Amino acid sequence: MPYAYILGIETSCDETGAAVVRSGERILSNVVASQIATHQPYGGVVPELASREHLRAMVPVVRQALAEAKMTYESVDAIAVTQGPGLAGSLLVGISFAKALAFALEKPLIAINHLEGHIHAVLLEQRQSGNTALEFPVLALVVSGGHTHLYLARREGNCWTYENIGHTRDDAAGEAFDKVAKLLGLGYPGGPIIDRLAPHGNPAAVKFQTSQLKHRDRNRLQGDDRVRFDFSYSGIKTAVLRYVETHNLGPAIEARHRALAGIEKPKLEDYLRLCDRQTLDLVASFQRSMVEDLVAKTLVAAREYDVQTLFVSGGVAANQELRATFVREAEMEGLPVFFPSRALSTDNAAMIAAAAFPKFLSREFVRMDFSVEAGMTLQSK
Ligand code: KG4
Ligand code: ZN
Repeated sequence: MPYAYILGIETSCDETGAAVVRSGERILSNVVASQIATHQPYGGVVPELASREHLRAMVPVVRQALAEAKMTYESVDAIAVTQGPGLAGSLLVGISFAKALAFALEKPLIAINHLEGHIHAVLLEQRQSGNTALEFPVLALVVSGGHTHLYLARREGNCWTYENIGHTRDDAAGEAFDKVAKLLGLGYPGGPIIDRLAPHGNPAAVKFQTSQLKHRDRNRLQGDDRVRFDFSYSGIKTAVLRYVETHNLGPAIEARHRALAGIEKPKLEDYLRLCDRQTLDLVASFQRSMVEDLVAKTLVAAREYDVQTLFVSGGVAANQELRATFVREAEMEGLPVFFPSRALSTDNAAMIAAAAFPKFLSREFVRMDFSVEAGMTLQSK
């Protein structure tokens, strides 16, 4: 079969992405325009600003992706775009642009679930490095700013199915990282900052409780009552807030916040200089609790469902301690675990183009009148 060149477009949150991927296995280009600088002063993503930034970045980002891939609009075989879940206004920018391209170029259009994209980020890079012998079923933990989901992923020919066996009841794991960082005056996005600061503190200094949420799914028909593994991260965020209040960290946080606002691109040394031991210990302890909870629940689920392979994907999968702990613990269970590279862990369009390849083969194209699905779920079992 000749190669298929798919142009992927991703605008679900605060990154404008465009990429060209060949046959779901080779990245020819992967361009991401980050909006961090726009949202930083507000301490989080402002949806209206995100849509405006996508509008501004869309055309140059797509042009750059085509140029880096040495492709033209005419030479791609299909256009793939994120349909949801995400911010409605942001998704609309990518979808409108993808529709216009597909219409003008008379190319097929493929709609992709962002969460499926995160799972295919792992598959894409494994194929790219020559590993085509993954064993199924796969248990995929998709852990990002908006999601903490566990999926059983199966493959039959070109058809992928996903069964959700767990998700967060409240905050997503990345959201907890972002909120705790904001609470401690460390800025946005919190995950990467906490990741870099945590090795400088004592992870055993503060004890945090995480929830035990394993239960039978009572909504299902009798005889099919599958065990679910749910997560909950709003409690740990509140516990950090309580620690801050009872230890009177407020004035130091305020001073740090002001000092960091005056530094254009703070470096690790700046953060370290502005954090005392108690704060570093708090950061390290918070991260340790999050990591232990994510890893423990995922491994119990892996055992329960007797999976052969583990994937960990999404923005939080970039976390160094999470990766190291997964590798160590999964190895003890004899379970192979795969992550995307750090660049493909956070939002990008290469994963969207890769997820589109099986749909391209089975000609699962969408009509021009398909629309944004901001609350889209991934469940095909
Ligand atoms: O997948 P992603 O780019 O966007 C969503 O789909 O949400 O994930 C972004 C999230 C943010 O919450 C960010 O703080 C978190 O991923 N994140 C990290 C790290 N890098 C990004 N969390 C922990 N450690 C990191 N190194
Ligand atoms: Zn994402």
